[in-house]
Amino acid sequence: MSQSQAHVLAFFDAATFTVSYLVYDKVAGRAAIIDPVLDYDAKSGRTSTAGAQKIVNAVHQLNLTVDWILETHAHADHVSAAAWLQGVVGGQIAIGKGIDQVQKIFKPIFDLEAEFFTDGRQFDYLFAPNEEWGIGSLSAKALSVPGHTPADMAYLIGDALFVGDTVFMPDVGTARCDFPGGDAGALYDSVQRLYQLPDDTRVFVCHDYLPPHRHEYQWETTLAAQKNSNVHLRADTRRDDFIALRQARDASLAMPQLILPSIQINIRAGHFPPADANGKRFLKIPLNVL
Ligand SMILES: [Fe+2]
Repeated sequence: MSQSQAHVLAFFDAATFTVSYLVYDKVAGRAAIIDPVLDYDAKSGRTSTAGAQKIVNAVHQLNLTVDWILETHAHADHVSAAAWLQGVVGGQIAIGKGIDQVQKIFKPIFDLEAEFFTDGRQFDYLFAPNEEWGIGSLSAKALSVPGHTPADMAYLIGDALFVGDTVFMPDVGTARCDFPGGDAGALYDSVQRLYQLPDDTRVFVCHDYLPPHRHEYQWETTLAAQKNSNVHLRADTRRDDFIALRQARDASLAMPQLILPSIQINIRAGHFPPADANGKRFLKIPLNVL
């Protein structure tokens, strides 16, 4: 497959600091949406598609066919808009094969219904590590990058690498590794594997948290910049130094605001839980578990 230039549009969600992407082959008109956000108001329990609608508008303006809705992992900080988007623009919802491990961890935590299967079947497609495919004439490859969760994936599409929650911008650092199934050593190994890719690979991060010295959100950098200057994990950072730094930092972090609603919906590929006897859908709040 060719190494054509991938066209990338970013959509920043200021409520959760998440960056979703629309990546496409302009000539063929084929596209993938990566990590879309469904707006969720924790105070009212109300969802909104206002943010995801901006992606739909771009798909229509550019006259694209959406082949894929790709999740890098089961996010803990925002609810996925994948299921809603699929109903509007189509595409297969895909995630890494290891999602079954995350479902097995969280099924008992939320005491989910017996019919909730922990084999990933809620998704249309599960990528194996290093699986290759294409989007129009763009080459695409699913890279297994566990650490933040046991099932994180990064997607290399043309020359654009969507790193999910591994590294953030070089002046921000790396993703936390303290959720159930997370592992700082695994994240180190995953990032070092990404650092084997060409230096000029364009890197698109999943979140930006504005560091004190910076005044604008950023989400695009290069692999060379990450390798040379990531404040947590450079190419020459030692494994045990990174693990010590990551674990110390994680010990100081509160749970993400939306972890409870997010996980319950995201391990269902963005579908809401089944309705109760009264026809309404509910999320659960397990007490003293997380
Ligand atoms: Fe995440």
